Amino acid sequence: MFQSPNGLVIGIWLLIIIWSLEFGVWSFPNTGACAEDQTATPQAGKVLYEQQCARCHGFDGKGTGSDAKRIFPKPRNLTSGVYKFRSTESGSLPLDEDLFGTISRGLPGSAMPAFEEFSEAELKQLVDYIKSFSQSFTEKKPRPVAMGFDPGIANADFEKGKQLYNDLGCLACHGALGRANGPSAKGLVDDQGRPIRAANLTQRWTYRGGRDPSSIVARMLTGIDGTPMPSYAEAMPAEDFWHLAYYVHSLQEEPHWNTVVRAASSGSLPKSTADPVWSTIESTTVSLGSFIYKDGSVVPMTVNAVSIQSLYNDQEFVLRLIWDDPTKDPIEERTTPPDALGLVLKPEGIGDIGSLTVWPLTRSPALDVIYWSAESNQIRRGVSVGFAPVATGKIPTEILQGEATYEEGRWSLLIRRPLIPTRSVVFAMAIWDGGNGEERRVHSSSLWLELALQ
Ligand code: HEC
Ligand code: HEC
Repeated sequence: MFQSPNGLVIGIWLLIIIWSLEFGVWSFPNTGACAEDQTATPQAGKVLYEQQCARCHGFDGKGTGSDAKRIFPKPRNLTSGVYKFRSTESGSLPLDEDLFGTISRGLPGSAMPAFEEFSEAELKQLVDYIKSFSQSFTEKKPRPVAMGFDPGIANADFEKGKQLYNDLGCLACHGALGRANGPSAKGLVDDQGRPIRAANLTQRWTYRGGRDPSSIVARMLTGIDGTPMPSYAEAMPAEDFWHLAYYVHSLQEEPHWNTVVRAASSGSLPKSTADPVWSTIESTTVSLGSFIYKDGSVVPMTVNAVSIQSLYNDQEFVLRLIWDDPTKDPIEERTTPPDALGLVLKPEGIGDIGSLTVWPLTRSPALDVIYWSAESNQIRRGVSVGFAPVATGKIPTEILQGEATYEEGRWSLLIRRPLIPTRSVVFAMAIWDGGNGEERRVHSSSLWLELALQ
């Protein structure tokens, strides 16, 4: 199978292998089978830990395993005794149950995987082993917080919750609508001086500590130790946190993950991002990744998802793309690069391009490129190798019709483009957040997607 006259098969395999190593797609099979014959000794936990956890958390627990460089946020230093997701008072250690939960559910939106297949015995061994990394567990006792009474969603007072969200200053970091764009969100750092972002509370897939109201209550009562997210335990009676938690929960939006974007046929096409017709059109959520490395470390990109809608008629298709970006760039003084979006159509039979992160390669084909930047606020189209020639206008480009609007931490971009004479188009996207210093090859990107005309 690895022998092929033209080396193509080997080439493809190599590409796949390089790609998976680069992007951490390989996950190692769980070798949980040995649980039965092992008792809960630190030694048993050590074996599991070294097989499953050490590549990130390090053999010594310090959070600097071989994969740690590729990861943002960084794996926890388990020797520090500082834990984020607890049901215990701020500055206190987690309960064993908190650690069970973290390990079995994982921390969505971070690299920390869910180890659902571990048995209870294995979890116990692991928890005992990771606790042995920090002296604190033998010295201090965790102090659980009182969670107050859950009124249930039917009795939740959303108005009161919203008022509390404003009064307690959540919006200073998380933004008025939860899109991580509050005035204090810029320049936040964790207790080790590393940049950290306020959570985007609308993205329910990024809640690491659980997105249900009771988890949200726990976050507010316990704070997230080691980060700027404070504990509000002293701010008001525990009962009131439930109204606030139900309100925060209501800010979450439902994603519709897919790699196929279906375009619906329509006589006339909307010209504005705010056209009411959009509310009736299917929306697809596409995930974007940060696959760019600088000095061997991953560059943490801002944009992790875009929602896409599309309509077409016999001449054109139109796309509406929506993504969250906490700042509108370039800012007035033009000290930041512009926010931008690039879209690439990949015609059939042009050979292999693993993804946008490896395009352009030295012998890349020219592709049909669309590029919008918040600086020129123009949507340009050209046939090019790479985004730069289209972005800078170095090659002849056509200006496409469209519109971009920025509101409360969210871009909406409408692009109209002449129809392509096939039912299905392969495309990919790159998004730059200028406020995060993203420019040129530093951008988040999607994998190849399909636009299917219905
Ligand atoms: C692919 C990398 C990776 C692997 C493998 C991994 N972790 Fe993690 N882990 C992380 C990251 C990243 C974080 C921190 C996320 C954050 O700060 O939001 C984390 C955080 C944690 C935390 C801290 C949670 C808190 O409340 O602060 C614990 C405990 C933990 N991991 C245990 C484990 C155990 C046990 C294993 C193996 C069974 C494991 N991890 C495997 C990446 C990993
Ligand atoms: C000073 C800035 C700041 C303020 C004020 C603040 N937060 Fe946060 N919040 C953060 C940061 C930073 C994080 C992410 C921590 C991390 O990455 O580990 C966060 C995380 C969270 C999370 C966790 C999401 C998850 O991953 O599980 C919730 C929920 C949350 N905040 C809600 C609130 C609410 C509600 C308020 C007001 C009562 C509030 N925050 C006030 C900075 C803030």
